[in-house]
Amino acid sequence: MPEITRVGVVGCGQMGSGIAQVAAAAGFPVIVRDVEAGMLSRGQVAIRKSLDKLVEKGRLEPVRREAALGRLTFTTSLAELAGCDLVIEAVTEDLRLKNELWQALDAAALATAIFASNTSSLSIGDMAVATSRPDRFVGLHFFNPVPLMPLVEVVRAVTTSGETFDRSMAFARRLGKEPIAARDRSGFVVNRLLVPYLLDAVRALEDGVATAADLDRGMQLGCGHPMGPLALLDFVGLDTIVRIAEIMFEEYREPRFAPPPLLRRMVVAGLHGRKSGRGFYDYSVDPPIPIELGL
Ligand code: 3HC
Repeated sequence: MPEITRVGVVGCGQMGSGIAQVAAAAGFPVIVRDVEAGMLSRGQVAIRKSLDKLVEKGRLEPVRREAALGRLTFTTSLAELAGCDLVIEAVTEDLRLKNELWQALDAAALATAIFASNTSSLSIGDMAVATSRPDRFVGLHFFNPVPLMPLVEVVRAVTTSGETFDRSMAFARRLGKEPIAARDRSGFVVNRLLVPYLLDAVRALEDGVATAADLDRGMQLGCGHPMGPLALLDFVGLDTIVRIAEIMFEEYREPRFAPPPLLRRMVVAGLHGRKSGRGFYDYSVDPPIPIELGL
């Protein structure tokens, strides 16, 4: 089985920068591409901050941090990914946007390169067929925060070859992650279970079952979750969850996947969670305090 030697990451948001960081820390030269130079510099800052945190906690030697930073290159040009034998895409959950990207990459990349999408809800097969390499197309779904969460879902579309799947599982292990195999059904394993739970927490808040703080404390103290569902929604991003829920609802047509009205209203009002400073909680104060949502 040929080794992966050079990794391209497309999209330098929360997930893309995290994926680039773990690949560089695992020893791979990584080229990160984003359309916006601003996104690249924000991603670079986030990577440095995360590596510093790991060093501070004694989980990474300073020399390895410097080596990881030295393996990262940032670019706005897609053509610079031409030499990569694995390209991982982590852009917005929009099939048209992703497929435009895949088609451009298909023309530029090595014919042997594997393409992997970090989508959490779109069909891997719908992207694979937009390229000339549906057998070398796979899902590699990472979890937030990528440097800390051990799981990667490796998703096999109907067209994915056995070799592509095996190489992708091996790659995830080389990152120090624990891969699980999943079929190409919207949400795969984790989001299929997690998303309805998160949406139910919003419905419980809308129904006045408990305050936001008590809903979160309930799941932390009663079930041992590291974060309550509303804090987790803020962490992942409310706009991201609405998008994922819409895609999952489209696939399954089950009410449990439908984004609740409150969540949509919050996104429209710019309450996107931690990244915008406000969601279910206000992050301008420490510790964050629940936002008055007019309920
Ligand atoms: N990089 C490096 N280190 C980090 C870090 C980062 N990005 N973020 C946090 N840390 C470290 C901290 O330094 C700290 O280290 P310590 O335990 O040695 O002191 C540790 O992680 C814990 O950090 P905090 O004290 O700030 O906060 P928490 O104790 O609450 O931990 C958390 C943070 C690890 C995020 C934890 O709350 C958690 O596991 N939350 C659940 C996350 C989760 O469910 N993720 C999945 C989301 S779903 C998804 O991603 C799928 C997508 O498709 C939607």
